[in-house]
Amino acid sequence: MPTAKTIFEEIFDNENAFRLFCSIAASGEAQGGWENGRIADLVPSAEQDLAPKIARHGADEDKHGRIFNALLRKRGLDPVPVPPDTDYTMRLEKAGIGLAHSRLRAEQKLTEHDIVTYLAHSRVTEQRASEQMRALRKFTADRPEIARAIRAISTDEDNHLAYCNEELLRLAAAGHEQVIRHTLRTAAMAEIAIYRDVSKAVMAHMGSILGWPKAKSALLAAGIQAFYIYERLGGWRRMVSLRMPARRNALCGPAPVHSR
Ligand SMILES: [Fe+2]
Ligand SMILES: [Fe+2]
Repeated sequence: MPTAKTIFEEIFDNENAFRLFCSIAASGEAQGGWENGRIADLVPSAEQDLAPKIARHGADEDKHGRIFNALLRKRGLDPVPVPPDTDYTMRLEKAGIGLAHSRLRAEQKLTEHDIVTYLAHSRVTEQRASEQMRALRKFTADRPEIARAIRAISTDEDNHLAYCNEELLRLAAAGHEQVIRHTLRTAAMAEIAIYRDVSKAVMAHMGSILGWPKAKSALLAAGIQAFYIYERLGGWRRMVSLRMPARRNALCGPAPVHSR
């Protein structure tokens, strides 16, 4: 019976599977970095205090992209193109979740409503990132090189999640509560379906690289679908709750140095 841990062990042990895993992760992080960098540049004057935090958020995501690329380099591997069906960030953007890339490429300043949209989208996707990294920490415990990289990313993702909660609570108190609730729910509903589809696509690509029998692939797809049903029936609520984090002002420090 395959478990998440044994599946990831198979992926880490196979060069082509590991290359695809790190390439998908690096690409998603880099896209997140670009989005946040643009948002930081376009913050409206009323929300200027947020600009350094959004810039820091973007710098962290860029750093995560470099960390995954460094893991590839250490094994003597080059990144491969990301199959479009596994591109979580692009699929969210295409579904209209978060701010459109056309909007971010323009030079026009964002509105306060755009900032709410950005933070609500991030609240949902950072929950996912935080949970995924916590799971990966467990799966990589006996692989020190990968574990060190995942630990660094995991700490950042927890900070991003704390920051989104704190800033959304501030904006909710300032009168945006209703739109925040609505945006969070819409983002969560779209995200859980896209996460399911992307997970199935990633596992289908891994299955063909690793030569999995049909029954094993079918079992994994059924597991992913079952998790989606859990999220659809109420698990999604954990992605939209707002709680003041224990760690306040988690993104107040300087941007990370380009060490990798
Ligand atoms: Fe990240
Ligand atoms: Fe993040």
